[in-house]
Amino acid sequence: MTLDFAGKRILVTGGTRGIGRATVEAFLAAGARVAVNGSTVQSTEKAIATLGLEAIGVPGDVSGADACKLIVETAATELGGLDILVNCAGVAHGGPVEEMTEALWDQTLDINLKGTFFCIQAALPHLRASQGNIVNLASDAGLIGEAGLAVYCASKGGVVNLTRALALELAPEIRVNCVCPGYVDTDMVRRDVIDASTDPKATEQALANAAPLNRIATPAEIATAILYLASPHALFMTGAALQIDGGTTAGHPKRD
Ligand SMILES: NC(=O)c1ccc[n+]([C@@H]2O[C@H](COP(=O)([O-])OP(=O)(O)OC[C@H]3O[C@@H](n4cnc5c(N)ncnc54)[C@H](O)[C@@H]3O)[C@@H](O)[C@H]2O)c1
Repeated sequence: MTLDFAGKRILVTGGTRGIGRATVEAFLAAGARVAVNGSTVQSTEKAIATLGLEAIGVPGDVSGADACKLIVETAATELGGLDILVNCAGVAHGGPVEEMTEALWDQTLDINLKGTFFCIQAALPHLRASQGNIVNLASDAGLIGEAGLAVYCASKGGVVNLTRALALELAPEIRVNCVCPGYVDTDMVRRDVIDASTDPKATEQALANAAPLNRIATPAEIATAILYLASPHALFMTGAALQIDGGTTAGHPKRD
């Protein structure tokens, strides 16, 4: 299966590192021109400097509707239109219910869910013109619960059902799908969970054990699924929540 995006104009929010960065690199390798969004000018410029001439930077914080509009409009102006929107910007805060503050709730929901919605809203005229499509980053935590991650689960469950509702509303012109990764080897997991724990080796093993395939994913594995959903190979897919989770959400694992 060849994934050819020659001439396609892509916006990836949260494209400066992790899954977003792997997605940007995969689109560039497949011939696309990519607008890369990071939350600050500094992080965006740093990423762009290493990505080559077909990548442009569109910095901005997706947690506000006005900023989402500016990010999308800048990307569409610079690229001369928009074919694909990938909503990848996201944050995760773990901890017991008692420790979750209103500020953490607002930040998580504003970036993960509100930002996704308002980037889509802003992109619609461009995607209607190009008959484009949308891929959102949900999570296995949007399909099943995870203890200690209630707020993140709420935000990603929202992304899954937002994807389904918009797929129905925007059909047949615009396809809307989401991916649901399990644990992926990015800053969100490697830096903030594994390396931040008292026993990083044991924590990494525990995360790997959560998946029947006994490991965490690489960012490139998630990028491949995103490109597939965005490609003509997936023309009969909309409203899908595609699991790339090593079997985590398949059901109860084998017992010893
Ligand atoms: N890593 C995992 O295990 C995992 C699993 C399932 C889903 N996801 C989702 O995948 C997406 C990418 O996560 P990652 O693992 O690459 O994390 P990461 O922390 O490595 O990268 C997050 C990206 O989002 C950007 N971002 C954060 N806040 C932003 C804001 N306000 N405005 C614009 N950009 C912002 C960051 O700059 C960065 O580019 C997120 O939506 C995350 O929830 C991650």
